[in-house]
Amino acid sequence: NFKNKIAPSILSADFGYFVRDVKRIEAAGAEVVHIDVMDGHFVDNLTFGSGVVAALRPQTDLFLDVHMMVENPETYVEEFAVAGADSMSIHVEATHHIHGALQKIKAAGMQASVVINPGTSVETIKPVLSMVDMVLVMTVNPGFGGQKFIPEMMDKVRELSQIRKEKNLNFEIEVDGGITDKTIEQAKNAGANVFVAGSYVFNGNVEENIAKLKERLMTK
Ligand code: DX5
Ligand code: ZN
Repeated sequence: NFKNKIAPSILSADFGYFVRDVKRIEAAGAEVVHIDVMDGHFVDNLTFGSGVVAALRPQTDLFLDVHMMVENPETYVEEFAVAGADSMSIHVEATHHIHGALQKIKAAGMQASVVINPGTSVETIKPVLSMVDMVLVMTVNPGFGGQKFIPEMMDKVRELSQIRKEKNLNFEIEVDGGITDKTIEQAKNAGANVFVAGSYVFNGNVEENIAKLKERLMTK
């Protein structure tokens, strides 16, 4: 059985106060910080690079989960490892060499995770499932916070959960995009255990919002 974890995305935090906001989610009981790195090519938005990870690392004990929305993510493995990232999630759509890129992440001492966009099937990542620590199923098209959860993605979460059982594998299942107090239960029931939430956590009272998400995870 996998531990349920809330992973607030700092994409929706105050960019001038990342340290303050991360300490806040840590105090509120979040388990993971989700860090959205975008390059303006893989997605139509730009955020930040490994400098933000290096700045946060000495300020928090939380697990730093870096979600790379960049082309050829293998190029940046070393620098994110040095910056102090705990895990790197890379899109199967972003590289010709998903297997090699995941190997590189493991060799750099980080946990390796593979991500699939809403239009990408589980089939595409079957050959690498035995080597990953986590699979991230996008529940919106990547690039921006505040979009609507796509419920059809739960079929992929169920499929992954089934494969994991049949093959006796160990990866966690993360969902990202449109997670709120209304959608988190569906994701949990489908088999996800790591829940990224950006706008839901940071709009309004952060402590209350995290508590509400956790409460939804408790119900049977
Ligand atoms: C989307 C990012 C998400 C984003 C989620 O490209 O990968 O992590 O921050 O934001 P919400 O929770 O607002 O959908
Ligand atoms: Zn993300």
